[in-house]
Amino acid sequence: MNNATDTHDPAAGEFRDRDAALEAALPRQPVQPPRLAWIPIRALGPGHRPRILQHLLALSEHDRYLRFGFLATDEQVARYVDSLDFTRDEVFGVYNRRLQLVAVAHLAYPPEGDAAPVAAEFGGSVSSHLRGRGYGARLFEHAMLHARNRGLDTLFIHALSENTAMLRIARKAGGKVERAGGESDAYVKLPPETLASQVEQLVGDGAAELDYRLKQQARAVRTLLGALDEVRQGVAKSGQAGQG
Ligand SMILES: CC(C)(COP(=O)(O)OP(=O)(O)OC[C@H]1O[C@@H](n2cnc3c(N)ncnc32)[C@H](O)[C@@H]1OP(=O)(O)O)[C@@H](O)C(=O)NCCC(=O)NCCS
Repeated sequence: MNNATDTHDPAAGEFRDRDAALEAALPRQPVQPPRLAWIPIRALGPGHRPRILQHLLALSEHDRYLRFGFLATDEQVARYVDSLDFTRDEVFGVYNRRLQLVAVAHLAYPPEGDAAPVAAEFGGSVSSHLRGRGYGARLFEHAMLHARNRGLDTLFIHALSENTAMLRIARKAGGKVERAGGESDAYVKLPPETLASQVEQLVGDGAAELDYRLKQQARAVRTLLGALDEVRQGVAKSGQAGQG
């Protein structure tokens, strides 16, 4: 068979050189991280405060500035975490395989008996190495669903105007952004709750809980295998010492 890839074909080298030159001339596309279809978002409670704090303290200075609207010190971040009211608000997050929190969101509800406001407020953050994969948008959709199922009709975000990622999420969710200099407010109207939205929440929360339990079990198995390996190595060493 004689084709252009045949090494005996004098034209083959010419084609290879031409292809290499064409490839070198092509503009390099940045590699897009994969977008995840489903992300297990789990409800967090008071017992998760240390891990929420760890996640927030690991954010860069600039991210902290974007998250809180000012350059919060470690003490201010710790005070914020201590002040989280898990009975009134909802806090939820995403755990990785090693059970570290890689994304956290706070959905703050208006105080009970507050007649006027019907909006819940969203704030959140994603660990820098996982940005651009849809975690932020998924957290926001989760907040929209939960706020809607609590009977609220608006989700509100207060962000710095430079926070393009956050404002993009709000706009893509149908939000109206009002810019006032360096700060912006975004309002996303929520549809009324339905049986389907309640079921969606139940199923999503149940699946995230299951995912967490499986990760816990996988970690326990890894720890057990590590311990067994240590025992095996110890036995092998003592066997060698006995022979010597
Ligand atoms: C805002 C934040 C939560 C977004 O998280 P994320 O996981 O990267 O968000 P997503 O992957 O869902 O991306 C959302 C959109 O913003 C875009 N985007 C992400 N980073 C961007 C950036 N630096 N500049 C411009 N657009 C950006 C994405 O392309 C995506 O748009 P698309 O759906 O049209 O592609 C994250 O950047 C973060 O933690 N920032 C620091 C804390 C913060 O600003 N919190 C919000 C304060 S309320």
